[in-house]
Parts: sequence; structure tokens; C-alpha cells
Amino acid sequence: MSFRARIKEIAKKNESNIVLALDFPFHNPEKRGELFDKAQSVLESVYPYMCAVKINHHLVLPLGTFEGVQQLVEKIHEEGLLAIMDCKLNDIGSTNQVIAEYYYAAGFDALIANPFVGWEEGLQPIFSVARKLKRGVILLTYMSHRGANEGYGQTIYDLETNAKGAQYISFARKALRWGADGAVVGATYPDKIREIHEILKEKVPIYSPGIGAQGGAVEKAMDAGANYLIVGREITLADNPSDKAKRLKESIKHKVAFG
Ligand code: XMP
Repeated sequence: MSFRARIKEIAKKNESNIVLALDFPFHNPEKRGELFDKAQSVLESVYPYMCAVKINHHLVLPLGTFEGVQQLVEKIHEEGLLAIMDCKLNDIGSTNQVIAEYYYAAGFDALIANPFVGWEEGLQPIFSVARKLKRGVILLTYMSHRGANEGYGQTIYDLETNAKGAQYISFARKALRWGADGAVVGATYPDKIREIHEILKEKVPIYSPGIGAQGGAVEKAMDAGANYLIVGREITLADNPSDKAKRLKESIKHKVAFG
């Protein structure tokens, strides 16, 4: 089964479209054991309210891919969730391919890549590897931070349409054409979610980070067309992550058609 079908099935079963961003602030690397324990304990307390977990450099750098992080990925799978690596792949194709192969070997079900590098000798090799292994590739389309407009929001001369247009519109069309398993659009920009959703319809699901800590709102993102919500510090840094995750899930339940 494809990554897209699997995450949809888990979201339906768990009645949650929340992807936990398992991120924590800098820890003294000598005390990385504490960081691992913290990550594991948050994971154990919130997994019933999630459909997937996204891991970033916050954990890969201090814990290592094949030591700490692979154990967390196994734990994520044991809890019935999928694991996404937020590596924002952004290099030449041969390097992208090796990075992707390592993350897939560590058990990740999907990874995030940056369409700025293009297809040929850019992202094409990782789509090939992903298809072979039945894993996913999710593309950045409009990022959640303030400076996103400087790159994703630029007006470009689109070589495919021979006309001027927005960079993120071109990326949304590429997500469709390349058969991406998801498109990342910041919850902080509901208007962009709406515009991109118009292009993607239900063919490529929208993953939306930026809820809470970055100022994005669940209602606005979902009303605009976000399919999955990526939530990090709002949960991981809460006094009671389990309670926070449970309440977040309850708040979105009525909005999601899990059919
Ligand atoms: P917070 O704590 O802000 O964490 O809920 C968000 C998580 O998502 C990552 N992030 C993004 N990842 N495209 C991405 O692929 C984005 O536009 C984006 N914005 C935030 C962030 O690194 C953190 O892990």
C-alpha cells in the first residue's frame, strides 16, 4: 500500500489528522540520553491522538540516525503510526538519493524534499527510490515562516506556461505532475492553502505546519483545505502533552471527513 493510502487509513482509524513534530530545544549533547527519554515519553503519551510523527534535525543530530532515531521510528511503528523525516532534501540528485536511502533504511515512511532543485538530477532519483520501496515524498510548496514570500512567494517566469506566475503555484503544479505524496503549506498562510488546494484538489494532500507556536490556527487551515496538521512545540513543550494533544484532536474531530 502506498504511503498516501496508509496515512489516510491510520487517520481514519485514529480519528486524527495530526502529525506530531517531535521537536525539542537544544540539549547538551553529553546528556542526549535524557533527550531520547524525553522524546520517547512524549511519544508514548500522545500517540493515540496522532496519525504520524515527523522527526527533524532536533533529534537526528544529537541522537544519530541508526542509534537513537531508528529506535524511535520502531517505536512509532509499534504504536501504529507512520514516521516522516523532515530533511527538506535540497541537493544534487546523486546526493539526494543517498540521503533518502539512509532515511528509508532507518525505517522512515516518507521524507520532505524541496522542489527548488528541480526534477532532472534533482528530485527525480528520490522519487524513483521511493516508488521502488513504496515510501513517500512530500514537497515543500509554501513554507510557514515570515520570510517564505522571499522564495516561495516570488513572481517567476514559468517555463512550463511561458507566463509570469507565483513560484508556489508552479511548485503545486509540479507536486501534481511528479506524483508527490503531499505538499507542505504553512498554516500561517490560509489563503495560500486555499489557492494551492484549488490546484491539488484531493489528488495531493496538504500537510500544514505552523499551528500554535508560529501563530497558525487549526480552523482556518482546515477550512482552507489542509488535510493533515503538523504540530510541534504546542504539544511537545506543553506542561501536559497528552492532555494538549487530546484536546487538539477533539477540537478538529468534527472538521475531518475520515471516510
Ligand atoms: P512547531 O513547533 O512550529 O513545529 O509546531 C513545526 C515543525 O514543522 C517544521 N516546519 C516545516 N516543515 N515546511 C516543512 O517541511 C514548512 O513550511 C515548515 N514549517 C515548519 C519545523 O521545522 C518543525 O519541525
